[in-house]
Amino acid sequence: MCGIVGYIGDNNPTNVIMAGLHRLEYRGYDSAGVAVVNEGRLDCLKSLGKLKVLDEKLEASPLGGKLGIGHTRWATHGAPSEENSHPHFDGAKEIAVVHNGIIENYQEIRAALEADGVEFRSQTDTETIAHLVRKYYQGDLFAAVKRALQDVEGAYAIGVICKDNPDVLVAARHGSPLIVGLGDGEAFIASDVPAILRFTRKVLYLDNGQVCEIRRDGHRIEDLQGNTIELEVNHIEWDDAAAEKEGYPHFMLKEIHQQPEVIQNTLRGRVDEGSDEVRLTEMNISTDDLKKIEKIVIVACGTAWHAGMVGKYLIEKFTRTPVELDLASEYRYRDPIVPENTLMIPVSQSGETADTLEAIRIAKSRGAKVASIVNAVGSSVARESHGVIYQQAGPEIGVASTKAYTSQCTAFALFTIWLAETRETIDKAEAKKMIAYLREIPGKIQQILDNQDAIQRCAEDPKYRDAQSALYLGRSYNFPSALEGALKLKEISYIHAEGYAAGEMKHGPIALVTDELPVVCVAVEGETYDKMVSNIQEIRARSGIVLSVATEGNQNIEQHSDDVFYVPSCYEPFSPIVVAVPLQLLSYYVAANRGCDVDQPRNLAKSVTVE
Ligand code: M6R
Repeated sequence: MCGIVGYIGDNNPTNVIMAGLHRLEYRGYDSAGVAVVNEGRLDCLKSLGKLKVLDEKLEASPLGGKLGIGHTRWATHGAPSEENSHPHFDGAKEIAVVHNGIIENYQEIRAALEADGVEFRSQTDTETIAHLVRKYYQGDLFAAVKRALQDVEGAYAIGVICKDNPDVLVAARHGSPLIVGLGDGEAFIASDVPAILRFTRKVLYLDNGQVCEIRRDGHRIEDLQGNTIELEVNHIEWDDAAAEKEGYPHFMLKEIHQQPEVIQNTLRGRVDEGSDEVRLTEMNISTDDLKKIEKIVIVACGTAWHAGMVGKYLIEKFTRTPVELDLASEYRYRDPIVPENTLMIPVSQSGETADTLEAIRIAKSRGAKVASIVNAVGSSVARESHGVIYQQAGPEIGVASTKAYTSQCTAFALFTIWLAETRETIDKAEAKKMIAYLREIPGKIQQILDNQDAIQRCAEDPKYRDAQSALYLGRSYNFPSALEGALKLKEISYIHAEGYAAGEMKHGPIALVTDELPVVCVAVEGETYDKMVSNIQEIRARSGIVLSVATEGNQNIEQHSDDVFYVPSCYEPFSPIVVAVPLQLLSYYVAANRGCDVDQPRNLAKSVTVE
């Protein structure tokens, strides 16, 4: 997730662009850059780090012109650096491109262009677009962009300018958001409305596969085949603050709602449409080495550790490889045994968690290979690992982890399929079936998000909203769901909550059950469903309040429960990714109804960089 802004008009483009980028900094902040067309030249400034570094550079060396594009980056391909920051250029530095998204076939395009003698300056997927546009450019930038995009697979929102076309800004979108703002004698492009709200409230929402040629006095939109498209002009009523959260009252709710798109992004580029095979080349492990692995160690903290537990269950079930799961803070102090052929998989959204980093150092010093699951590209965890699976979830602002968790689980699902196929513990048909199940998940989450009334109603009910304490139970694949549900509730609503394996209930927590204790029971279809129903009956027999999460169509569960949240039917091993969503929503609405500071709960930090 990155932020892009473009401008054409009578104002200084860098002033407008920088004002817009500051409103988009939540989309990414590892590096930034601007390019302008000025007196027949293409001038550019880039910087590593937050936007304020670029502000300082621009103050020292201002750029002129009437047309420009800018970008704030959240790295996906290529570590944060000046050379990888946008805009990217063709070989002659006459065409500049900013991009948000992931070009899935960039390696093939790059190889073909290099074979034609094109030299690349960066490790990014984006640079391929600049060279492709150059390849097809014959004086008409709009035509060249349309033609170039026919070669591209993946997701993009782009802004393109050319030194020989001072009156034209070209924008295109597929999969990543992009809007066009219409002003009086000026126009804008941006990833998101807040970037341009102070300049105009008239907005066009570009749709997938649409390319727009923007001039200060008008615009035209076509699809890649050249068919003309008319879009309705929308008038934005939001105020500035609401717009940054896209109208959601909190970042956490926005991030919960981003999950269908985020999971698609985690899968993007890793699952070949044609061959139905998983590709995880960034993990930097050869097929031979993958076959040799005798033990996997997963280390993480908090929510990431819960995702690690989902990973353990999946990996052991489908690849028959023993997996040790440990809290990074325990691993680092317990003199762990690291046999030969051990693979460590650290999991971390921020990539900066101190305990996780220390666990990596210990495992490496004892000979383990380390391949991490990380969201923040170029972070310390990523840099200190031999390989990485980037989550591609975009920046997570809410302290409570939501989209990072489901994308970590998705990354584990991908890794499991890859390992199982390589070690031949599943056959091709099963791998294909699992990939198909994974692809269904975004749609299932969307269904939950579209039907959340029951969850909102429960969160207003005093028996949940005002509870002193809550218990979460789950079994097998959904034991981690219980742990994660309880953590979400306690960290943002300050209600004491515990997650337990339901089979453990009789070994202690059942003593807590009274008519004031809500017990959230994950009872979706699957091998342990009947056992969960037995637990539920035991809780009811002791007057506990039962809130079940069950599979759509299961009417039997209602007679045993005070309330039920339904989720769509789902392949059991991947069900934690879907089950997480109603539990996140419950915590969110309970906390919001209690008036808690949802995005920044007391005493917590987004990234725990000290012990
Ligand atoms: O950045 P990391 O994934 O390494 O962070 C680990 C935990 O601090 C984090 O998951 C924490 O538990 C979340 N606030 C939970 O919502």
